[in-house]
Amino acid sequence: MEFIREYADWFYLIGAVLFILTLRGLSGPKTAIAGNRYGMIAMAIAVLTTFFVADNPVVWMIVGAMVLGAVVGIARARTVPMTQMPETVALMHSLVGLAAVLIAIAAIIHNNKLIELEPDLLAANGVNFHEMSRVHLFELFVGCFVGAITFTASVFAYGKLAAKKWAKTISGVWVKPVQALIFIAMLAAGIHFFLTSNMTSFWAMTALALAFGWVWIAPVGGGDMPVVVSLLNSFSGWAAAGIGFTLENNMLIVAGSLVGSSGAILSYIMCKAMNRSIINVLFGGAMGGAAAPTAAAGAAVQRNYRSGSADDAGFLMSNADSVVIVPGYGMAQGRAQNAVKELANLLKEQGVTVRFAIHPVAGRMPGHMNVLLAEADVPYEDILEMDEINSDFPATDVVLVIGANDVVNPAAKDDPNSPIYGMPILEAHKARTIMVIKRSMATGYAGLDNDLFYNDKTMMIFGDAKKVVEDMTKAINGTGH
Ligand code: TAP
Repeated sequence: MEFIREYADWFYLIGAVLFILTLRGLSGPKTAIAGNRYGMIAMAIAVLTTFFVADNPVVWMIVGAMVLGAVVGIARARTVPMTQMPETVALMHSLVGLAAVLIAIAAIIHNNKLIELEPDLLAANGVNFHEMSRVHLFELFVGCFVGAITFTASVFAYGKLAAKKWAKTISGVWVKPVQALIFIAMLAAGIHFFLTSNMTSFWAMTALALAFGWVWIAPVGGGDMPVVVSLLNSFSGWAAAGIGFTLENNMLIVAGSLVGSSGAILSYIMCKAMNRSIINVLFGGAMGGAAAPTAAAGAAVQRNYRSGSADDAGFLMSNADSVVIVPGYGMAQGRAQNAVKELANLLKEQGVTVRFAIHPVAGRMPGHMNVLLAEADVPYEDILEMDEINSDFPATDVVLVIGANDVVNPAAKDDPNSPIYGMPILEAHKARTIMVIKRSMATGYAGLDNDLFYNDKTMMIFGDAKKVVEDMTKAINGTGH
C-alpha cells in the first residue's frame, strides 16, 4: 500500500499512456479489441491507485458505490437495444456532469470548514490559504458550471432521444435573448464568487448553469441530437478534467482531457459528414432557422416508381457478378444485420462478389453500421468506407440499399436548393441496377424525397428489412443455384 502511495504518479503515467493506446486501438476494427483491453487495464490502474492514495478512505462507501455502479451498468448494458444506444450514452454523460457539480460543492464545503476550523494549522504550515483558494475557486467555478450545463443538457438530450413528453423542443424569438440573459447572469455570479468567495453567488451560478444547459439544448432539433450528444461527451470530459484539478488528481486531468478533445474532434467529423456547421447545430433552432428540414417537400407531386418482390430481387442478385450492400438506419431499426450477413454469404457461395458500403453518418450514431456488421461477424475486409467504394459503383451490377435513404440521396450532389446539398453521399445511383428495401415511400431523417427511388434503374422492395432479406435468401436457396 505504501509502495502504491509512493509511486502513485508513475502508476497514473502508465494509466495515461494506456488510455492513449486505447484511443489509438479503437480507431480501427482490427485493433479495437486490443484497444478495449488497454482501456480496461488503464481504468483498473486508475481506480486502484486512487483508492490507495486517498487520505483516510471510507472503504465501505467507495466499495458500495463501485458495486452499485457495476450492478446498474451491467444490467443496463445487457438489456439496452442497439437503437437506444444514443440516449443511454446521453444519460451516462449527465452522470459525469452531476459528479463534477457534487465534487465542486463538496470541495467548497470542505475548504470553508478548513478555514473555519483550522486557520492556525494552515498558517503554521506556511499555507497562504487565500492565495491557494483563489486558484481553487477558479477551477471550481469552471468545473462546476461546465458540469452543471453538461448535466441538464444531457438529461434533456436523453429525454428528446427517448421521445419523452417533458423534453419538448422550444422555439421562438424569445429563446435567444433568454439564453443570452441566463448565460450572462451565470458568468456574473461565477465571477462574483471567484472574487469574493460569496456562497450565495456560488449557488446562484450553479442554479443558472443548470437552467442554461436546458434552454441551450431545448431548441435544437431532434435530428441534430446525435451531434449534441457527441459534444456533451466532450463537455463531460472537460468537466472531469476540472474535477481532476480540484482533487489534484493527474489521472483525471489526463483522462478528462482525452475525452474532451476526442469528443470535440468527433463532433467536428459528424458535422462535416452531414454538411452542417457546429454553430448551426447548436444555435440554428434558437435563431429560428430550420434545424432539420421537415417532411413532405415532395409529397405534393405524384411520381412513378417501380416495385418488385424479394423473389425477383434474389434472382437478379444471384445472377450478378458484383453486389454492393448499402445499409442504413432501417437495417438497425429492423435488426436485420444477421439476415443480411446470411444473404451475403449465400451470394458469395454462388460466386458473386459482395461488399458493404458504409457512409460516415449512416444510422443514428458514429460507427452505427460498423458495430452492427461486426456484431453479425461480417468480415472487415468486405466493409468499405465511402471514399474507398464510390468510384466502384459504375462497374457494380447490383446495389442493394437496405433501410438507407439520405446517405444515397443524389439531391446532395445535384440540387443546390436541397437542404443536404454538399453532403457527400454513396453514389448508388451510378450502379447498373438499384434495389431499395424500405417499408414505404416515406422520407428518412432529413425529411426529404429521394430521386433514387424514382430512377429508371431502381426497383423498390417494400417491407421490413429483416423479413425482406430473409425472403431474398429463401428465394435464392429455392432457385437451386
Ligand atoms: P435515413 O435517411 O434516416 O433513412 C432510413 C430509412 O429506413 C427510412 O427512409 C425508412 O423508410 C427506412 N426504415 C426504417 N425502419 C425500417 C425497417 N424496419 N425496415 C426497412 N426500412 C426501414 O437513414 P440513413 O440513410 O442511414 O441516413 C442517416 C441520417 O441520419 C442522415 O440524414 C444523417 O445525417 C442522420 N444522422 C446520422 C448521424 C450519425 S452519426 N449516424 C447523426 C445524426 C444524424 P420507411 O419508413 O419507408 O421504412
